[in-house]
Amino acid sequence: MDHQDRQGTHGEFYVTTPIYYVNDKPHIGHAYSTIVADVLARWREAQGEHVVFSTGVDENAQKTVDAAAKQGEEVGAYLDRMAELWSGTWAKLGIANTDFIRTTEERHLEVVRDMWGRMEAAGDIYKGQYQGLYCKGHEAFLKEDELTPDGLCPEHKTAPELVTEENYFFKLSAYQEKLLDFYETHGDFVAPSHRFNDIRAFVEHGLEDVSFSRENKEWGIPVPNDPHQVIYVWADALVNYITVVGMEGWEAHPADIHVMAKDILKFHAVIWPAMLMSAGLPLPGQVICTGFLTIDGTKMSKSLGNVVDPLDLAARYGNDALRYFLLREVSFGDDGDFSEAKMKERYNADLANGLGNFAARVLAVAEKQQGGIPPGGPALAPEFAEAIRTMRHTAAARLGQFRFSDALAAVWAAIAFGDRYVNDKKIWEIKDEAELYAVLANLLALLDAVAQELAPFMPEASRKIRAAIVHGSDGTVTAAKPDVLFPRVK
Ligand code: MSP
Repeated sequence: MDHQDRQGTHGEFYVTTPIYYVNDKPHIGHAYSTIVADVLARWREAQGEHVVFSTGVDENAQKTVDAAAKQGEEVGAYLDRMAELWSGTWAKLGIANTDFIRTTEERHLEVVRDMWGRMEAAGDIYKGQYQGLYCKGHEAFLKEDELTPDGLCPEHKTAPELVTEENYFFKLSAYQEKLLDFYETHGDFVAPSHRFNDIRAFVEHGLEDVSFSRENKEWGIPVPNDPHQVIYVWADALVNYITVVGMEGWEAHPADIHVMAKDILKFHAVIWPAMLMSAGLPLPGQVICTGFLTIDGTKMSKSLGNVVDPLDLAARYGNDALRYFLLREVSFGDDGDFSEAKMKERYNADLANGLGNFAARVLAVAEKQQGGIPPGGPALAPEFAEAIRTMRHTAAARLGQFRFSDALAAVWAAIAFGDRYVNDKKIWEIKDEAELYAVLANLLALLDAVAQELAPFMPEASRKIRAAIVHGSDGTVTAAKPDVLFPRVK
């Protein structure tokens, strides 16, 4: 069954973000993935689908314990505080997630044990000796040839720890052919396609079994029937996607889309499907993957002191503006650079001037019409009908391909058309009442359509604009200019 069939038959849409590590607070990179998932959730909901949209926190990592210790806090208290901080951040940013999962919850432990049992029953879990270089930052083993010349993890700049222990292994190597067959028949499983090519090449190269447990760790989910081992954090974390809907829920309707950045694509496009195959469960529809955000051209890092807090930006520019900037500025799948100067520039040009000014000009003239614009005028002018149709068609097609920036560009093309019309007609000077009514009816229809199209991207502005245009039961349209949508920022 391909992805299209799935959405049609169920009328249901299940989208996820990664569950984030809580060794720190959310930054703009995390916000980016979460916003992408939120746009997809709102879009599908607007199409009448029942949406499950989950995000959450990955609490069983060793680095959680380290972070708590560093703060001098007891782990449980630290986790509660961080869960509050992460879910509170999403609430403040207006994220419409329907669930927030914590991997220390009982519901999760049950599903993880169930999964482990299924993979074990399939003969895919076995005990073996392991020696490897473990990077805590990655929560994964690195190969020697992945390290810097002086033996450090290239990303975390720390020396991995040489670990020799007895572990349980997952027989990933047994899934090479099955994965390749699956990729073959599911041509849109990973987007963008160049990342799918990387994944195929990686799997074709040959797969090694993965260590799926750690010995004598104080933190994590114990391996069923072996209290000396805890389940490898990734083997537990991926299962969160089942926990959210329950085992039966997943069997009936697995995730349609997993959203993430490229750093964790292999876990989602290789290990996760193999685990599901082993457990006899259906696979997700798509894994979509963004690039990385940098700040003024450099990597975000605490030590560089350039970590951008999404709440700080939202407080100064608004939630919608933050969403708009990230989705418009970054071309999906590519790395993107954040700079506040660029954000300010786009904010003033596209939002204060573009959308805000167009809405304000149309609504101001419409508001002046006592008793509103009466029904019975001429039908929508062909050029308006065409502008609306093109916008809707193009935006939907681009959104379907996750080309958020291009979808927004299609909406801005319609705004530009409306703006030109307002200028050319000099609508504030039109004296003839019938003409003015016809012009306003067209412009209000366009503005309304623009706002409707923007609903998944900029829910607050969309709601304000749509609320400003009131359709009476007799067909009269009245307008009330809202407060300035996007005050200019100096
Ligand atoms: N806990 C794991 C995920 C388990 S999912 C079953 C994890 N957590 S994380 O906190 O490190 O989050 C990684 C994710 O955060 C990335 O995949 C991406 O979604 C987001 N990002 C973190 N930094 C980012 C950027 N600089 N740019 C874009 N996205 C970034 O990995």
